[in-house]
Amino acid sequence: MSGKKLHFGIIGAGRIGKVHAETLAFRLPEAEIVCIADVNREAAQTLAARCGIPKMVATAEEVIGDSKVEAVLICTPTGTHADLIVQAAKAGKQIFCEKPIAFSLEKIDMALAAVAKAGVKLQIGFNRRFDSNFRRVRQAVAKGEIGQPCLMHIISRDPAPPSISYIRTSGGIFLDMMIHDFDMARFLIGDEVEEIYTTGGVIAEPEIGEAGDLDMAVVVLRFKNGTIGTIDNSRKAVFGYDQRVEILGTKGKIASENRFPNEVVVSTGEAIYCDRPLEFFMDRYPESFALEVAEFVQAVIENKPTPVTGADGRVPVVMALAAKKSFDEHRPVKLAEVSA
Ligand SMILES: NC(=O)c1ccc[n+]([C@@H]2O[C@H](COP(=O)([O-])OP(=O)(O)OC[C@H]3O[C@@H](n4cnc5c(N)ncnc54)[C@H](O)[C@@H]3O)[C@@H](O)[C@H]2O)c1
Repeated sequence: MSGKKLHFGIIGAGRIGKVHAETLAFRLPEAEIVCIADVNREAAQTLAARCGIPKMVATAEEVIGDSKVEAVLICTPTGTHADLIVQAAKAGKQIFCEKPIAFSLEKIDMALAAVAKAGVKLQIGFNRRFDSNFRRVRQAVAKGEIGQPCLMHIISRDPAPPSISYIRTSGGIFLDMMIHDFDMARFLIGDEVEEIYTTGGVIAEPEIGEAGDLDMAVVVLRFKNGTIGTIDNSRKAVFGYDQRVEILGTKGKIASENRFPNEVVVSTGEAIYCDRPLEFFMDRYPESFALEVAEFVQAVIENKPTPVTGADGRVPVVMALAAKKSFDEHRPVKLAEVSA
């Protein structure tokens, strides 16, 4: 480490690459971006100019090979993550990688083995754990404020689907979208899920079905401690980003609602209404995106474990694979069937 500043290389200058680059450039004095790469030169160029990044390179390999780079931020499509983690680990870089680690457990295990062998740190981008609402829900469960958790409901709906080209490489609704909610479920309850039952369909966006994916999915989770949960995902909620959680316990319930750009309520002779919730993940979760990277930097500088480890990155993929199997086979699936 060079002093108290961590020097980053960013790989991928798309939607999430921009979010993280802006955090590092404008919100984190302990971080400095050394270089950025994107196969789309123009995307890298635009982001480099916006964030004052001094060096733009053509490939991920050049970022990883740059001796000034101490930590890499992997923001490329999911299919590339595991191989980039292996390369970065072999080069001795600290690693922050977007979710999910990979589509298959074989790839994940290969990546985690490389990280363990190199002794570098790895954090996976499950940003919602850093959201102040969800942190408070977790705190209430952990402190026993609502007694023993009995029922948990996670509602997680996007305002509009991503592009069909994104859908095609995303891994599908369970590995791409519900993966956040799988992580949230085990984070909030503080226990592991043992069985999943899924139903889903293509209802609002036929194009998503033509691309081989679902646009609606609901899973029922049974935790080892007996808690029963549901997760409800939709790729389209026309009124905005719908991100809510409710947990019923033996001594009460805790609920977190959507966030709004303002708290104004307009009351007229005809109706009482307010504005739509914050539009999408960049608007709803900026604080959590900044905090997750800040805690990664802190973990590296202070040589502490990262707050979302590689093992935390693996379990939601097991859950997603079980959910997909349940959908395909129309039956409840135990996680042990997917990963021993
Ligand atoms: N944590 C979150 O809330 C969140 C939100 C969005 C996306 N993501 C994850 O981030 C990843 C990227 O998603 P996105 O929405 O930013 O996608 P995106 O398509 O907007 O951006 C990906 C970028 O990577 C570039 N790229 C592709 N292959 C590359 C390579 N080999 N080397 C360098 N650049 C390469 C593309 O040109 C593109 O600019 C996905 O794994 C996704 O699951 C996480």
